[in-house]
Amino acid sequence: MSDDDRLMHHEYDGIREYDNPLPFWWKGIFVLCIAHSAAYFYWYHLGGPGLTEEARYAAEVKELEAIRAAAPKQEVVVDEAALAALAKDAAAIGRGQGVFLKNCASCHTENGRGLVGPNLTDQFQIHGQSRLDIYKTIHDGVPDKGMLSWAPLLPPAELAEVSAFVATLRGTDAPGGKAAEGRAVDRLR
Ligand code: HEC
Repeated sequence: MSDDDRLMHHEYDGIREYDNPLPFWWKGIFVLCIAHSAAYFYWYHLGGPGLTEEARYAAEVKELEAIRAAAPKQEVVVDEAALAALAKDAAAIGRGQGVFLKNCASCHTENGRGLVGPNLTDQFQIHGQSRLDIYKTIHDGVPDKGMLSWAPLLPPAELAEVSAFVATLRGTDAPGGKAAEGRAVDRLR
């Protein structure tokens, strides 16, 4: 085809147009995209079998809720007597110490002598005196002072075990401990 044959017949202000069609493969992809988008729209939005992100999410949440409902309820009774009993249970105290080393040592040090957080090994306490008071401080935290609330972060059993462990530290007077804070309290026996 000569160049003249490919010139189109119209002319505007001396400008003429060349007939330069897009290649076949390019048009093919274009048509395929349109066909695919129509199929996609039907599949996911017009009642086709595809599930949208929302529907898939809702299905997964439902599945999770079913698993949660089927799981046995892990009721942990926490009172003074229960914490005192845990303190005598070497396995529970060992687990409590593990929780402490992992989560608490950064502020209270590995043996509880205190750093950012107060010394847990002296016989002084800022909040209350009993094992249950210790549990409450750990459970609720002291957000204004930089002590987190651990209730949402630890499973109930671990919360009780770490509280029982912390209570066993009192009166161990770890060397190099942070200066006493709070009121003088009795040793927990
Ligand atoms: C980010 C630092 C930080 C971490 C981590 C931390 N604490 Fe504390 N903790 C503090 C501070 C600061 C206080 C003092 C709060 C105040 O002055 O009322 C405190 C107070 C306490 C008290 C009360 C002491 C008292 O004298 O009444 C206990 C008990 C305690 N923390 C246990 C824990 C346990 C158990 C963990 C881990 C599960 C933990 N803390 C993790 C910073 C921390």
